[in-house]
Amino acid sequence: MRNTFYILLLLLLFSCGSNTQNKETAYDPYDYQIIKQHNFRKAAVSSAHPLASLVGKEILAKGGNAIDAAIAVQYALAVVYPNAGNIGGGGFMVVHTKDGESATIDFREKAPAAAFRDMYLDSEGNPIDTKSRDGHLAAGVPGTVKGMELAHEMFGSLDFKELIQPAIDLAEHGFAITAREARGLNRNKKDFQKYSTEPSAFVKESKWEEQDTLLQSDLASTLRRIQDQGAKGFYEGETADLIVQEMERGGGIISLEDLKSYEAVVRDPVVFDYKDYQIISMGLPSSGGILLQQMLRQLEEYPISEYGFQSKESVQLMVEIERRAYADRALYLGDADFVDVPVEALTNKEYLLSRMEDFTPLKASKSEDIEAGEVLLPTKEETTHFSIADELGNVVSLTTTINGAYGNRVVVGGAGFLLNNEMDDFSAKPGSPNKFGLLGAEANAIEPGKRMLSAMTPTVVLKDGKPLMVVGTPGGSTIITSVFQTLVNVLEFGLSPAEAVNSPKFHHQWKPDVIYVEKDYPKTLIAELEEMGYEFKERIPIGRTEVLMLEEGYINAVADKRGDDGVAGY
Ligand code: GLY
Repeated sequence: MRNTFYILLLLLLFSCGSNTQNKETAYDPYDYQIIKQHNFRKAAVSSAHPLASLVGKEILAKGGNAIDAAIAVQYALAVVYPNAGNIGGGGFMVVHTKDGESATIDFREKAPAAAFRDMYLDSEGNPIDTKSRDGHLAAGVPGTVKGMELAHEMFGSLDFKELIQPAIDLAEHGFAITAREARGLNRNKKDFQKYSTEPSAFVKESKWEEQDTLLQSDLASTLRRIQDQGAKGFYEGETADLIVQEMERGGGIISLEDLKSYEAVVRDPVVFDYKDYQIISMGLPSSGGILLQQMLRQLEEYPISEYGFQSKESVQLMVEIERRAYADRALYLGDADFVDVPVEALTNKEYLLSRMEDFTPLKASKSEDIEAGEVLLPTKEETTHFSIADELGNVVSLTTTINGAYGNRVVVGGAGFLLNNEMDDFSAKPGSPNKFGLLGAEANAIEPGKRMLSAMTPTVVLKDGKPLMVVGTPGGSTIITSVFQTLVNVLEFGLSPAEAVNSPKFHHQWKPDVIYVEKDYPKTLIAELEEMGYEFKERIPIGRTEVLMLEEGYINAVADKRGDDGVAGY
C-alpha cells in the first residue's frame, strides 16, 4: 500500500515535471538572447521573436521539416508576440519543397456574411476610419488556424499535437516580456480596456516592465481545444461560441456560420524569372507577388548594378518603378475570387516597358501624370514575417497579420486572443472618381465572403532550381518595396543579407507623391534627388525583414535590427 502511494507520488511528480517547460526545452523562456545574425550549418529560423525562433529550431532539431516548424512558430508567435502574431488573423505561406514543388497557402481573413459595401461610411458617404480600425466591427473572419491545418495536411511530418505544444506551454507557464513588448502593452492599455468587453491578460494595474511574466491561461485553453480537435476547436464549439458572444457584446458581425464555413485555399504561386534567378511569391488576394514581378521586370531593363547602391540614379529608377506599380495596384487589384483582375496584362513585358516610356532619367515624374484609380492602401503596419529552412531542403516564407498593432484591440472574452482589424484593408469608399474621373479601387470593395487586398509578400528566390533566399517583412504598404529593395540590395548591389536588411530604406507608393525615408537615410542623396524635383518625408522605421541566405554549406540567417527579431538554428 505504502509502496503504491510512493509510486503514485513519483508518477505525479514526473507528470508535473514533464509539463514544465525548462525541463523539456533547450531554451529558457525567462532567459533568452536576441541573436541578430548567425551562420547555421543545417537549419535556421528568423522571426520577430527569439522565443518563436527557438521553438522553430527545436521542432527542426527533433526531425520536423520546415512546414512543421512554421506551424509551431506561427502558434508560438500568437503567444509571445501578441502585437502581430496571432490565431485571430490571417496570412500567406509560400513553400518550396526539397522535391522542387512550390505552393502557396492563402489563409487571409474574409469579410463576414453580414458585411456590406458602405458599412464604414457616415450619413454623408464619408469613411469613418475608426469604424474599420477599432473594435469589433473591424474584424474579418480569422484564417490562421485553418491555414495551419491545411499546411499540416499537405506537408506536415510530425504530429500536430507536438507542434502546438510549445505555444501552450508558453501561454500557460508564461515567459519574460521584452522592453519593447512592455512599452507596446502599456501604450495600448486604454484601448484594450475600451474595446475588449472583458478583462484580459494584457491589462494589469501597474505598468508592464521588461522581464515581467506574461501568463495567458485563457489562450492556453483555446490552444488546447485546437490541439485536441484541430481547426474545429477554433471554428466550432466553445471557441466559436466565445467569439460570437464577444461579437454580440461589442456590436460585431462575425457569426457561427462565418466561422464554420471559413476555408483556407491553396493558390498558384506567382513565379517568374529575374535574370538568373527564379522568384516565387504570393498571388492574389495579395498584391505583393504581382507588384514584385512588375517592378523586377521593369528593373531588369536597366544596368542597375552599375548605377550602384544608394546612388541618385538607382534610387530614382526604383522610385519611378514603384510609383507606376502602386498606381496599377490601386486600380486593378482585388480578390480574384470576386473580381476579374487582368494579371496577365499587368505583368506582360510589353505593357511594363510601355509604362516606363515617360521615365526621364534625373527628372522626377509627377504622380498626377500617372493614370490610375483612387489610392487606398493598407495603412497599418504591424504584420509579422518569418523565414525557415530545414536540413532536408524545404523552405517556408510566411507573413501573417492582425493588421494594426494588437489588431482591433478586442481580446475575445474567455478565449484570450486578439482579433484583427483587417476590414480596414478593403476600400471603404470605392467607386469615387479621382481627379481624372477614373473609378478606383472598385476591385477591392467590400462584399460578403470576399478577402481584402493585401500587400504581404512572402518570397523565395531560387538559383539553379535551389533555394537561395527566403525573405519577407511586415510594413503595410511598404512591404512590397521593402522586399523589392532587399532583393535588389543583395542580387544587384552585392550587399550581405545583414547589410541589405539593416540599411536605411525608402518607399514610394504613387500617392502621396513623396519619397518616404527612414531617418538615417543619407542626407546628401536626399539633396541630390530634391534637385531632380522629388519631395521627401521622414518616417518611422520601414518593415522588419527576416532573411535566410542559403550559401554553399551554410545558412546565413538575419533578423532585422529594427525590432526584437532573432534567429535560431543549428
Ligand atoms: N494588413 C496588411 C496587409 O495585409 O498588407
